[in-house]
Amino acid sequence: MGNRYTFIMASFLVISSMLSAQDKNKDVFIEGLMEQMTLEEKIGQVSLFTTDWESTGPTIRDTYKKDIASGQCGALFNAHTVPFTRELQKIAVEETRLKIPLLFGYDVIHGYRTIFPIPLAESCSWDLDLIEETARIAAKEASSAGLHWTFAPMVDISRDPRWGRVMEGAGEDTWLGSRIAEARVKGFQGPDRIGQTDAVVSCLKHFVGYGASTAGRDYHYTEISALTMHELYLPPFKAGLDAGALTVMTAFNDINGMPATAHKPLLNDLLKQTWGFKGFVVTDYTSINELVEHGIAADERDAARMSLNAGVDMDMQGGLFQAHLANLIESKENTLDQLDDAVKRILSIKYDLGLFEDPYKFSDQTRYDSIILHTAHRKVAREMAQKSFVLLKNEHQLLPLSKENDQVILLGPLLDTQVDLMGAWSAAGEGEDCISIQKGIDDYLGGNKSLKVKKIGAFDNSMLSEDQINQALELASDTDIVILTMGENRDMSGEAASRANPVIPPSQTQLLSALKSKDKKVVVLLMNGRPLIMTEVDSLADAIIEMWWPGVEAGPAIAEVLYGDVNPSGKLTMTFPRSVGQIPIYYNERNTGRPHIPGIKWNTQFIDESNDPLYPFGYGLSYTSFDYDNLNVSCNPCLLEEPITVSVNLSNTGLYKGREVVQLYIRDKHGKTTRPAKELRGFETVELNPDETVMVKFELNKSDFLHLDMELREVFQAGDFEIMVGGHSQDVLSVNIVIEN
Ligand code: GLC
Repeated sequence: MGNRYTFIMASFLVISSMLSAQDKNKDVFIEGLMEQMTLEEKIGQVSLFTTDWESTGPTIRDTYKKDIASGQCGALFNAHTVPFTRELQKIAVEETRLKIPLLFGYDVIHGYRTIFPIPLAESCSWDLDLIEETARIAAKEASSAGLHWTFAPMVDISRDPRWGRVMEGAGEDTWLGSRIAEARVKGFQGPDRIGQTDAVVSCLKHFVGYGASTAGRDYHYTEISALTMHELYLPPFKAGLDAGALTVMTAFNDINGMPATAHKPLLNDLLKQTWGFKGFVVTDYTSINELVEHGIAADERDAARMSLNAGVDMDMQGGLFQAHLANLIESKENTLDQLDDAVKRILSIKYDLGLFEDPYKFSDQTRYDSIILHTAHRKVAREMAQKSFVLLKNEHQLLPLSKENDQVILLGPLLDTQVDLMGAWSAAGEGEDCISIQKGIDDYLGGNKSLKVKKIGAFDNSMLSEDQINQALELASDTDIVILTMGENRDMSGEAASRANPVIPPSQTQLLSALKSKDKKVVVLLMNGRPLIMTEVDSLADAIIEMWWPGVEAGPAIAEVLYGDVNPSGKLTMTFPRSVGQIPIYYNERNTGRPHIPGIKWNTQFIDESNDPLYPFGYGLSYTSFDYDNLNVSCNPCLLEEPITVSVNLSNTGLYKGREVVQLYIRDKHGKTTRPAKELRGFETVELNPDETVMVKFELNKSDFLHLDMELREVFQAGDFEIMVGGHSQDVLSVNIVIEN
């Protein structure tokens, strides 16, 4: 046998022995530590408590320092900054018997101190690399402040804008949501950076189906068929785990009669056994305690028993593992093995982070001071804000504005706000870090405060007085163009912020209507955490830019877009309804047996509303225009053994350079279960100069055409398929093909 082969084999044996030695060292270390631990010390490791620095739930706790010193707390959240994490870690590693370091977690959802656009906004950029980069920056800043673990990404799919937490997710589509989950996990953790001081452990949440809360009412129960659970809600979790996510958080909701936090088939059987998840499962805030209110646990002791049995490893803020596990194990209602498995999962992550070697390694003031809110981070925040903006309307090419020729004024309730720009879940973000819309535009126009402004409009259901309206009209009297900020304040979306009627507050629409009665050109800058009901605004405004809550660089970002330095390219990842009665409304609906045919009575429709949304999934305009033609598929009929290539010609037919998100959809005309009329299966982003044409290519493989049968088996059904490509889900070129076995 050649020397070369021998050398390769020898190297392989050495490397594999090194790796297994590392793992062996870890196993030996953890086993050795666990042998020394008392039952109480083990129970301490599965208990997570908040500090009293801030409250992100219904209870607060101020005994955490005693809990640490007594070994009853293995992890804390809402504890950050170098001084505070060092102070608390010191208690753990100097005052406890075994000196096991603490894990520090925090909701770093869209930035730690450099606050990026909210996750729903980021998803509208369709820029996976940039989404990964903002998560990477968030991890760098958070880890320098002593944090090891972020309770992100939130990967809940939702089709209901009444649910305030849609702002934390990636919209309504499972395929896109899965790609974004992968990008965020890689940004936070990796790849393979756990243990380095610029990465944090990610946490996929909320497992599972929280986005299906009945009527969009937060914490409400969910009725989810097995097919929908496995087709719609679970895949982004599986994608995040495949990307390396190390923790999972259970959801508050009851799933078909069993709360997620006590759901053994999903937690232990699917997540841990079938999917082989080796990290740990943490509950959401006191969700073990809530099993009593759910009516599934007789009391808090029973709740602790059920959740450990189901596969929960760590109790967030409930204090029930701490209070009851010793007794439950002594009475054999839970086993020591269950506790040991949970403890081992938690210690394994502390080991991988390197905390046993240096418990203070993440709490580094020098690094913190050198990177926090760095100009390079702000630059990325501005780019992400601009790519997340969605141009919803632009009548007669009103935008971009001309700095020289267009006299504008700025009105509305959000023109000078700073803190609202961060949206909910703004971690260590400070309002003063945010550049307001007013400052951004004023600076862009010369910074001499020449821009006339008037803060006007409410967020409740009150209307403006005649006097207020007249003042605004007076200010606008000698100008043609009004920039009008409209939307929600940051408290109107997020957790515990469901809205039965998610409209734009009426006083804001009232002002728009008054301005239009005076023939003003109005550019609406919309800030919100969810799709809003805004049919009247759409009919009145001349131009509308969906800004979401755009983060620290909001002002400069929108100024550069308004005046054409940047051409907006965002595309909606969540459908905007025309009315609340249409909800849930989403692009990938199943066809029904009586699909909608305009003018035909006996089909699926409303008699008082269109079936169509105001703005569909994937929609977004540009200052330029794009044309699609020559859609081509490499085969017909096709065999699945080789990839299917789809191509289309894309032309920039307008006057500006622009970026287009070219979307690829499929339709399986008949399957083992009914199939959506359209399913996103790919996208490409393309930058084109005016008059430039390129061929955009996609590759489809067998996995793109699989679906689940009634037994939840992945199947392929040969037959008729439709391949579609276009600029949004309702504007596509299509071709029919046959795919054979
Ligand atoms: C909250 C949220 C969850 C968050 C946790 C800790 O109730 O549901 O997303 O990570 O508590 O703040």
